[in-house]
Amino acid sequence: MDNPTFKSDTVLSDVHVHCPNKRHLMVRLNAVGQPVFLSYFKLLCNTEDLASEKHVREAATAGEDQYRGGDERCDNLKKERELTSEGVEALLDDDGDLEVVRRPRSASDLDAEDLSRDRVYPVILMKGKEDALEDEEQECTCSDVVRIEHTMATPLEDVGKQVWRAAFLLADYILFTRDTFRSCLVLELGGGTGITSVIMGTVAKRVYCTDVGEDLLAMCEQNVALNKHLMEPGGGEVKVKELDWLKDEWCTDPEAPYSWSEEEIADLHDHCTVIMAADVFYDDDLTDALFRTLYRITRNLRNSCTVYLALEKRLNFTLRHMDVTCEAYSHFRNTLNDLENLQDGKMKYTVEPIKLDFCQFLVYERIEQLELWKIIAEQLS
Ligand SMILES: C[S@@+](CC[C@H](N)C(=O)[O-])C[C@H]1O[C@@H](n2cnc3c(N)ncnc32)[C@H](O)[C@@H]1O
Repeated sequence: MDNPTFKSDTVLSDVHVHCPNKRHLMVRLNAVGQPVFLSYFKLLCNTEDLASEKHVREAATAGEDQYRGGDERCDNLKKERELTSEGVEALLDDDGDLEVVRRPRSASDLDAEDLSRDRVYPVILMKGKEDALEDEEQECTCSDVVRIEHTMATPLEDVGKQVWRAAFLLADYILFTRDTFRSCLVLELGGGTGITSVIMGTVAKRVYCTDVGEDLLAMCEQNVALNKHLMEPGGGEVKVKELDWLKDEWCTDPEAPYSWSEEEIADLHDHCTVIMAADVFYDDDLTDALFRTLYRITRNLRNSCTVYLALEKRLNFTLRHMDVTCEAYSHFRNTLNDLENLQDGKMKYTVEPIKLDFCQFLVYERIEQLELWKIIAEQLS
């Protein structure tokens, strides 16, 4: 097959441009004829360790536990990453082959390599995805690799079919503070490929990963299935559901493939204590709709809830301003302010930025435009 051509009105996520994978494996065309690729994202820790950590914790004293769970783990990971990036220490896979974890590339590296950067196109095309996966069987079952099907370049309305950097940031935070999410019921808004929900599924009890569009939700469900083995040790599950911020009602039509049952809606209302979203602020109308959805849901929850919003501030040069602006980000900040200052006598929202000094468990550039916000939503009545 010829290299797929990417139209100029499409957008391509930096995650896929700078993807640290050995290669990009195109596995099939999706229902709307877009090439679907399979990427492997290595976790710089092992999900089996995450599951067994519970037993370690139970055996440890409370004081030791705090020590093990926080600074030491961070220091060890940092040390491991430093050693690996210097080439001093290398990892061996099950066959004894060298497996080098590449450090995130810095901006200067990328500038230098810009002209020689790998071109992004498939190396293999097979009709059946099972065939394509067969070659990678070894890697497939690894408990430290997340496998994600995605498209490579999409028009704006299909951006959820790619993985975005803020999803990695949120995944890092989940893995670093995993005890916070242990056994929780979590709702993800605009989950896209489902990568953050999959990571959350390794620690939480149940994750409702939501988005819109049947082909996107099908891709998300496929990714959940591809990574089931990562969630099984901890007993977590991810359910893929439709949730459109532009609609006030839950999709309960039993004919619709990703609709909610009454029991699932009750489950969410009764048990959800965490809501999360990554890279969902790029259009002012959608930002407004998402905040309306957030209000509507948190207002109806039985418990107070913590909301995590990860984003990448995107800078654009506009002719209107003759300057670099970040209008979508400014709108997000204004809306966030409005939420915090809301005085409707029913809800109280407390907003705080989260410092990004936690470890990286995924390989990507932790650029300064990335932000993570925490909102505590409490009912007053
Ligand atoms: C930039 S993508 C981010 C996807 C994923 N969270 C990530 O970071 O990789 C934005 C997501 O918002 C979703 N979205 C856009 N409009 C929406 C709406 N009206 N209701 C629900 N989700 C929506 C898109 O489908 C897409 O998955």
